[in-house]
Amino acid sequence: MTHTPAPAPAADFWEARYRDTDRVWSGRPNELLVREAGDLAPGTALDLGCGEGADAVWLAGRGWHVTGVDISATALERAAVHAADAGVGDRVAWERHELGRSFPEGSFDLVSAHYLQSPVALDQRAVLGSAANAVADGGTLLVVMHAGWPSWQTEPPFDAVFPTLDGVLDELALPAGEWTVRTKETVRRPSTSPEGTEGHRDDNVWRLRRG
Ligand SMILES: C[S@@+](CC[C@H](N)C(=O)[O-])C[C@H]1O[C@@H](n2cnc3c(N)ncnc32)[C@H](O)[C@@H]1O
Repeated sequence: MTHTPAPAPAADFWEARYRDTDRVWSGRPNELLVREAGDLAPGTALDLGCGEGADAVWLAGRGWHVTGVDISATALERAAVHAADAGVGDRVAWERHELGRSFPEGSFDLVSAHYLQSPVALDQRAVLGSAANAVADGGTLLVVMHAGWPSWQTEPPFDAVFPTLDGVLDELALPAGEWTVRTKETVRRPSTSPEGTEGHRDDNVWRLRRG
């Protein structure tokens, strides 16, 4: 007798989020990816929580061979269409994982996680630990996360603990001497509410080189 496990609540949440609308994200790569990875020599890259694939497609367009990972099958289907439309479908592989429960095989020259933040269960500490382990010698770990709510968000929609610059590095506890911190910075970016209120949002960025 075969048994198909029930989908986890996190998968249900994100799948519904993507199915609710034709497109969730802008289709453009994240600014901090462009800033931080633009000067890296292309190799293999892993994009964790790739959503609809804009970062993976941008990297592939610059010559990287990318594995994009997300919990949502719908997001990954859209990402594959985006890659094919951009003419880089042969340079991107898509894998569905619930990070924290499973993680892609192999090591990569760049492991990138942008806004891998969730209102539902996500063991960020474990995922970032696995992300660091997946970085090849001489490779880069690039992590970007919101540092708080946007300035216009007067009522937080749910309880959230935002990671601090030092907190993430303390939790990662990377072996001294093996890693170099290249970027550890809070970046303030303009942000507009859905109703058109102008404001800003702070993001934290960590870029670390292994070896
Ligand atoms: C805030 S979105 C960011 C998407 C994309 N990286 C970007 O910057 O536009 C978070 C993404 O992480 C994915 N995600 C959330 N929890 C996950 C998990 N446990 N494993 C894999 N992906 C997850 C969601 O489906 C979503 O696509």
